[in-house]
Amino acid sequence: MSLTWSAKDHKNANQPAATGQKRSRNDAGNKVTVVLGAQWGDEGKGKVVDLLATEADFVCRCQGGNNAGHTVVVDGKEYDFHLLPSGIINPKSVSLIGNGVVIHLPGLFEEGDKNEKKGLKGWEKRLIVSDRAHLVFDFHQVVDGLQETERQAQEGKNIGTTKKGIGPAYSSKASRTGLRVCDLLGDFKDFSTRFKNLVRQYQSMYPSLTVDVEDQLKKLKEYSERLRPMVRDGVYYMYEALHGPPKKILVEGANAALLDIDFGTYPFVTSSNCTVGGACTGLGIPPLNIGDVFGVAKAYTTRVGIGAFPTEQLNAVGELLQTRGHEVGVTTGRKRRCGWLDLVIVRYAHMINGFTAIALTKLDILDVLDEIKVGVAYKLNGKRIPHFPANMDVLQKVEVEYETFPGWKTDTSAARKWNDLPAKAQNYIRFIENHIGVPIKWVGVGKSRECMIQMF
Ligand code: GDP
Ligand code: IMO
Ligand code: MG
Repeated sequence: MSLTWSAKDHKNANQPAATGQKRSRNDAGNKVTVVLGAQWGDEGKGKVVDLLATEADFVCRCQGGNNAGHTVVVDGKEYDFHLLPSGIINPKSVSLIGNGVVIHLPGLFEEGDKNEKKGLKGWEKRLIVSDRAHLVFDFHQVVDGLQETERQAQEGKNIGTTKKGIGPAYSSKASRTGLRVCDLLGDFKDFSTRFKNLVRQYQSMYPSLTVDVEDQLKKLKEYSERLRPMVRDGVYYMYEALHGPPKKILVEGANAALLDIDFGTYPFVTSSNCTVGGACTGLGIPPLNIGDVFGVAKAYTTRVGIGAFPTEQLNAVGELLQTRGHEVGVTTGRKRRCGWLDLVIVRYAHMINGFTAIALTKLDILDVLDEIKVGVAYKLNGKRIPHFPANMDVLQKVEVEYETFPGWKTDTSAARKWNDLPAKAQNYIRFIENHIGVPIKWVGVGKSRECMIQMF
């Protein structure tokens, strides 16, 4: 497959220029539905994407890398996706990894092969990879670990990254020394020179970093041949998808609002924009084409890694949420920290993303509690603060104001419609909806695809 876009390959893509017609705001083409995490990740985005993907023509990842871990349970089988869009399960849809994603090729193929053994068929033929996406190399992952050690030694705490090389790869991208898919598939001699320069750059910063350059290049050459048939110019590919016949296009956000490099709890964040803007920059699509933006929030809160967590419960409640909710990281196997639902952060995430509806997941985990609390405001020195603080020292010190609800003490896992839920659970859901000011469209009551109550 040629990397050069030609009008013959993509018939409609150059129509506006060729005809001289201007597109009006009402003629923006197909709309894209975006699914985003509204907390610190692991809200159940994979499950929501899988649900929507059963009808999607395209499912796209726009940012992050294999730091993400998205679980999908179909027909009793559990799949975990890290780089592959979760929608790859739908045999009728095409999956796309956009320019904003950072790709570790060994990780990508390992993940595909692992899921193929579980029954995922024909994924390589249904995967499109943008030629502008940046590559994560093995040494980026080693550097990720070295940086964590350095942070621990210098500041007494690290970030608790996934060590998937995400920060170093996005740093290479921003410093303009990174290498992209199109570079790998282009002149390999030139690629090799730039790869060696990049290694040298990191070795000057981290003298203990050893890289078997020739072995790495040999492996990368092999991966490049497997990758080549999947690679397209993502911008033209998306343009075609948006302006061709009606298509259902889904964007699967990775990570979450509070891990966003700009809006999250910096520096305890990831290195990409996990909020709605990332869908445009990570795929090359205009904001006008963004349709529904679905926020996914757990009925409580979890966080993996280090950083302030105002509603964290370091007590029996936190332990119950962790064990009942099986709150263990899909990517790292680390135990997730657990606490009450924090509506200050979900509202903040809504301010940035403009959610059109919310999927509230894991309600069933709360089924056994006598009482349930929801954080509704933060106080500092006894006074309510009006904003979600940017400064982490402030966030560490806030005191949370809670609303308390009686538990429903009823198994909700078999509920499939609103009326199946106990009144006390309905009350809890309605309170959340009113407080955020966004309709709740789905309520999750179990892991599998069918364990979802659709409200409208
Ligand atoms: P993601 O990263 O946002 O896709 O979420 P993860 O897959 O990392 O973590 C969510 C976990 O919760 C997974 O194990 C899901 O199978 C599970 N899950 C999702 N929704 C529900 C739900 O409504 N109830 C229960 N009990 N589990 C759920
Ligand atoms: P999904 O898509 C939960 C967290 C890491 C760490 C910080 C930085 O499954 O919701 P990184 O490796 O990105 O440099 O780590 O961000 N983190 C996540 N936590 N879910 C995720 O993704 C995450 N992706 C990154 O734990 O604290
Ligand atoms: Mg996850």
